Amino acid sequence: MVEAHLNGVRRAMAAGWQVLSRGADALDAVEETVVVLEDDETFDAGRGSFLNRDGKVQLDALIMDGATLRAGGVGCVEHLRNPVRAARKILSESSHVYFVGEGAEKFAAQHGIPLCKNEDLVIAREVERLREFQAHAAEQKPNLFAPAISHDTVGAVALDRHGNIAAATSTGGTLNKAPGRLGDSSLIGCGCYADNKTAAASTTGWGEPIMKLVLAKWAADRVASGNLPEWVAAEAIHYLQSRVQGHGGMILLDARGRFGIAHNTPRMAWAVKTSADESSGIER
Ligand code: GLY
Repeated sequence: MVEAHLNGVRRAMAAGWQVLSRGADALDAVEETVVVLEDDETFDAGRGSFLNRDGKVQLDALIMDGATLRAGGVGCVEHLRNPVRAARKILSESSHVYFVGEGAEKFAAQHGIPLCKNEDLVIAREVERLREFQAHAAEQKPNLFAPAISHDTVGAVALDRHGNIAAATSTGGTLNKAPGRLGDSSLIGCGCYADNKTAAASTTGWGEPIMKLVLAKWAADRVASGNLPEWVAAEAIHYLQSRVQGHGGMILLDARGRFGIAHNTPRMAWAVKTSADESSGIER
């Protein structure tokens, strides 16, 4: 799956870059980037996500605007192909910040986002993965949170030409999760955060430890205290591991364009592009 992940993040980054190149803002860029990742069955977001204990896809997403601190989140939705689109509608068109379950889907439908069947989000690979997991769970009690399984949340951070930053995160959560379980990804400050005065952050990994540390906000605040995002991202992942034995990854970007990428999982696919890369033709 390594090549599929690398190709996926590169395609998503290209979509986000295209948005920024035509002068649209960071918020649009992170939304479009995450839509590409949700549409890619490689990742644990949108169609192809891990299944919960009942064999259903249940999705969470958050998007946040660093210029205004407006945010939109959805949790435990089962009938949306692109939960980040619903999150964006909430950010743009609601006085509320967060909707869950049927209420979130109703809001989305009322704002022109088509609903789908839950089965449309389920793929054979994940049916088999859940079957295997549940078959072995009875006899071996495998570690549900072992990094090699169960973490593939997607996210994006962006800085636009106006100096504004934004972040978005989307996930199907953890394999075999209890129905109704909400992870870190869609919670402000945990799986996602953006403030022009601090930083934009998106995290991936085991949600419960990340939630306990409010890790995205923890990192953003440290950037505001004058630390380089590169150093802060590494410190955040070190803190996650040392304080609560968590594992995951983070992408972190400030309004000056400085960024950090860190993870303590065996792998994390990422892609980055800057205007300097664009002019020199570098691809990373
Ligand atoms: N980080 C995704 C989750 O735990 O739900």
